[in-house]
Amino acid sequence: MAQIVGKGKLRMGMVGGGPGAFIGPVHRMGAELEGRIELVAGAFSQTAERSKAAGEFYRIDPARAYAGYKEMMEAERKRPDPIDFVAIVTPNHLHLPVALAALEAGFPVMSDKPATISYAEALDMERAVAKSGLPYGLTHTYAGYPLVREARAICASGMLGKIRKVAVEYFQGWLSRAVEAEGNKQASWRSDPAQNGPGGCIGDIGVHAFHLVEYVTGLDVTALNAELRTVVPGRRLDDDCNELMRLSNGATGVLMASQVAAGERNGLRLRVYGEEGSVEWYHEDPNRLRVRWVNGLEEIRHAAASYLSKDALAVTRLPIGHPEGLIEAFGILYREFADAVLGWKTGKANPVPDTLPGIRAAVRGMRYIEQTIASSKAQKWVEF
Ligand SMILES: NC(=O)c1ccc[n+]([C@@H]2O[C@H](COP(=O)([O-])OP(=O)(O)OC[C@H]3O[C@@H](n4cnc5c(N)ncnc54)[C@H](O)[C@@H]3O)[C@@H](O)[C@H]2O)c1
Repeated sequence: MAQIVGKGKLRMGMVGGGPGAFIGPVHRMGAELEGRIELVAGAFSQTAERSKAAGEFYRIDPARAYAGYKEMMEAERKRPDPIDFVAIVTPNHLHLPVALAALEAGFPVMSDKPATISYAEALDMERAVAKSGLPYGLTHTYAGYPLVREARAICASGMLGKIRKVAVEYFQGWLSRAVEAEGNKQASWRSDPAQNGPGGCIGDIGVHAFHLVEYVTGLDVTALNAELRTVVPGRRLDDDCNELMRLSNGATGVLMASQVAAGERNGLRLRVYGEEGSVEWYHEDPNRLRVRWVNGLEEIRHAAASYLSKDALAVTRLPIGHPEGLIEAFGILYREFADAVLGWKTGKANPVPDTLPGIRAAVRGMRYIEQTIASSKAQKWVEF
C-alpha cells in the first residue's frame, strides 16, 4: 500500500493531460497549488511519444511518463515510492476502465466528470469503489468556489425558508459552428458518441448544472421533463437542452444548457428562491453572491469577507479583493481529496468529506444524463 515518503507530498499519477489538452494541466496546477500534492507520473496521451513529451512539459522523471495507463499502474505498484492516487482527465469513455485499473491496483481515484459514459457504468464504478474501500472524488469544479459554498450554507441554514424554485443555466457558444469538423481537439471527441457517451451538451455541461442544483440546495431531483436538440447540422449529439425539474421537497426547477448560445463564454448561473429570499451565483463573476430578501433588501456578498459562513471562509485563501478563480477551485477539491487520501491511509472511516463531490454525485450525474435523454425521446416526464 502506498505510503507518504520523501517531502511528504502525496504523489499524483495522471491519465490524460497530454500535449494540447485542456483540463489536465489545470488539474496539475490545482492539485499542486497548496504544496501537498506533486505530479510525479502519468500516462498522458494515446502514444508513448506524446506521453513522453507531456512528461517533459510537466518536468517529471522520464521513466515515469508511461505509454499506457495499465503500464503505469503496474510499474508504480512495484516502486518503493509509488503514486498515492490517480487523476483521470481523459475523454469520458476511458473514465471507468482507468478508474477500475487504479482501484484494482490499490490507488484512490480523482476523476473528471462525467463519471462514465452510461448509468450502467456508473453503477459498476459505485460497486468497484465500495469493494475497494478507496477514496473516489469527482471534479465538479464549481463546488470548489467559496461563494458556491456560501450559497450552500445559506440554503442549509434555512434562512431562505422552504426552497420553492430553482433556475440554472449553463450557456456556452463555442459549438455554434461545426468546429469538430475543423480539427478542434476538444470538440472532436465530444461529438463522437463512442468517446463521449450519449449526452452531448448535457454530458459536458448540463451535468455540471444539475450537480450544482443538488449541491447547493441539498435537495434531490426526483423527475425531469426535457427537450434535447441538435442545432448544428451534421452533429451527432445534442448541443442544446431545455428541461423542467421536480425536487424532493416539492420545489420545481428549470435547467437550460446550450453550447450553441453564440457569444456566450462559460455562463453558468444558478438562482435558488425560497419563501424568504433568494441567492444567485454567476460563474463569470464568481467572487460575488447576490442575496435578495422578500422585503426588497439586496445584499452582494463578496468572497473572503469576514461575514461569510465558516464553510465559505474555510475554502478562502486570499484577503478580500484578491480574486480567486478556476484553478483555486480545483485546488480546493484537491485539498479535500488530499484530506480524504490521508484519512484513508490512517484508517479513518468514510474519509471523503461531503463537501467534495464523490461517488454519489457520479451515479446521480449519469442518471441525470440517462433520464434526460429518456424524457426527451418519450416527450414526457420521467421519474429520476
Ligand atoms: N471539471 C471541468 O470543469 C472540466 C472542464 C473540461 C473538461 N472536463 C472533462 O475532462 C476530461 C478531458 O477533457 P479535455 O477538455 O481536457 O479533453 P482534451 O481532449 O483536451 O484532453 C484529453 C487528453 O486525454 C488524452 N488521452 C486520450 N486517450 C488516452 C489514453 N488512452 N491514455 C492516456 N491519455 C489519453 C488525450 O491525448 C488528451 O491529452 C473530459 O472528461 C471532460 O468532460 C472537465
